[in-house]
Amino acid sequence: MVQPVRNATLTCIAFTGCVVLGTHKHLPPPSLEELGLESFGRPDERLSGARLLKPKKFRFQLLADFIETNFDASMRVLDVGGGKGLLTYLLRLRGYAACVVEPEFQVLPGKYKDLNTNKRVKIPQTESVPRISDNFEVELAENFDLIIGLHAHGSNLKMLEAAARFEKPCVLMPCCVIGESATPTPGESWFKWLVHMAEEAGLGVEYFCLNFKGQNVGFIAR
Ligand SMILES: C[S@@+](CC[C@H](N)C(=O)[O-])C[C@H]1O[C@@H](n2cnc3c(N)ncnc32)[C@H](O)[C@@H]1O
Repeated sequence: MVQPVRNATLTCIAFTGCVVLGTHKHLPPPSLEELGLESFGRPDERLSGARLLKPKKFRFQLLADFIETNFDASMRVLDVGGGKGLLTYLLRLRGYAACVVEPEFQVLPGKYKDLNTNKRVKIPQTESVPRISDNFEVELAENFDLIIGLHAHGSNLKMLEAAARFEKPCVLMPCCVIGESATPTPGESWFKWLVHMAEEAGLGVEYFCLNFKGQNVGFIAR
């Protein structure tokens, strides 16, 4: 069962803007407040402890926790543009039948930090995750229950199309719209444009934000 996400009750640490901001001709994503998300700390506040934004490399652990909180572990998950496969690995540890679709073969990292125990965990060299070594195409989504795109630029529009066509929820944590089949008009917020494209496809959108540096705002489209 999919748990509802309530925008106003989500706690967010801060928003630091898109990493490609300097080279991107489109406006940065809206502020957390504009998205109806709870901002964490005043702009001038020095954050510490658990409120401190984590390094971007922890995005996989944070997103896996978010998925576990919001989606049932019986779901078959497609991790689009999943790179080395760490998100898929962590989701599989949580019981999801997760699979990467990614054209570039990349091996799993040798270790990761468990944020709950604060301990480093080794991934045996013999471990691997299921991989579809190809470009993501809309039809692929039919055999999955949940489509995830973590910084999967170039595949965001296709994921939204798949979510609408097969009525599957889609979790998008976009970093930009480079490589997409269409582009926002210059001067338009690329994030708002993606949201607009989701709504145009008949999908409802729920925003969320994770506690890491970089482009840490996403949305569930369903
Ligand atoms: C910015 S990286 C993000 C990788 C990973 N999700 C992460 O957060 O580190 C984008 C990934 O999308 C992959 N990619 C590029 N074109 C793709 C396509 N058509 N279908 C699926 N993945 C693609 C790239 O090879 C790359 O690994």
